[in-house]
Amino acid sequence: MMSTPSIPPFLVWLGVLAAVVLAIKATNTISVYLRPSKLRRYAHTSRDGRPPWVLVTGASDGIGKALSNELADSGFNVVLHGRNRTKLLNVQSELSQAHPARSFRLLVADATQCQPEVFKDIADQLSDLHLTGLVNNVGGGGSGTLFATLDHYTAENTIEIVNMNALFPTLLIGSLLPTLVQNGPALLMSTGSITDAGVPLVSAYSASKGYLKTLAESLTREVKIAGWDIEVLHLRVGVVTGVAGNKSKPSMFMPSAPVFAKAALARVGCGSPVIIPYWGHTLQVAPLDFMPVWLVDMIIEYSLRDIGSVFTNTPATNDEAAKTK
Ligand SMILES: NC(=O)c1ccc[n+]([C@@H]2O[C@H](COP(=O)([O-])OP(=O)(O)OC[C@H]3O[C@@H](n4cnc5c(N)ncnc54)[C@H](OP(=O)(O)O)[C@@H]3O)[C@@H](O)[C@H]2O)c1
Repeated sequence: MMSTPSIPPFLVWLGVLAAVVLAIKATNTISVYLRPSKLRRYAHTSRDGRPPWVLVTGASDGIGKALSNELADSGFNVVLHGRNRTKLLNVQSELSQAHPARSFRLLVADATQCQPEVFKDIADQLSDLHLTGLVNNVGGGGSGTLFATLDHYTAENTIEIVNMNALFPTLLIGSLLPTLVQNGPALLMSTGSITDAGVPLVSAYSASKGYLKTLAESLTREVKIAGWDIEVLHLRVGVVTGVAGNKSKPSMFMPSAPVFAKAALARVGCGSPVIIPYWGHTLQVAPLDFMPVWLVDMIIEYSLRDIGSVFTNTPATNDEAAKTK
């Protein structure tokens, strides 16, 4: 009779260790979605009785507009930021009708313009408010080429992308941090992207979102060291529909902006500074954590093969890139 070969004990222990690590990771991931939201902790009145306000950047459309609606529902008055006053006025009127007990104020500023005086001016404009929240949501791929190798982007387009997604939020946080510290407990949220891990053909966008994520991690530690009562929460976002550039039908992996906004605010107080707030996006991304880098690269290349092929073959000068707009 043939004897079955026995498994070496170290392999058994390695297997057990892997199973335990996997179980802990899975439990941590799931628990983020089960904890009750602590959003209302930040919707508090000041000692002298002034109501709470939150500033939402990029609030005239898509996710920012949906977040503003949810925040108003949770007791905040909202400063709606955008670049187009008419569009903002329409959103203000819509939200005022939906939330008659709340106030809405407009803040018009082009997020691609990052001169120091812009931020001093914003802080001055908001100085009379009891600001207890800042949601850095403005961002996107800018007005030029999308899905191309970096040499196809004009310098202006790249500056626009990096300013809007990285520099504008950084300088805005810097200028409003003293107010948030003074008014604490306060919430500091940012809308990032799951492309922050180094996605090709959107490299300036992907890197800017990676920067924003690192900024949130640094700020989380800074807040602890300084002893401030501020929660930093960075959202890693997958595809969301019902936004300016995507009006497709929502699906399990592509929530509408309102569904996404609800999920995002439900995660406030979850205990983790960087999260994928919508479970469908987590299902899409989580398997990548367990794959070797070469397989992840293959999947990314396969997903982008059609989109990218137009722009990957002939490097262009900035003038030529401009023509692709
Ligand atoms: N939707 C997605 O699939 C997705 C996925 C990952 C991450 N995100 C991130 O989610 C955030 C919101 O995106 P969204 O999809 O909701 O986009 P959206 O519908 O295009 O809304 C973007 C908002 O930002 C404003 N904005 C754009 N450029 C601006 C500028 N230069 N100055 C001031 N405001 C400006 C827009 O104003 P106007 O109304 O005037 O254009 C609008 O209010 C972004 O940070 C984006 O990177 C979105």
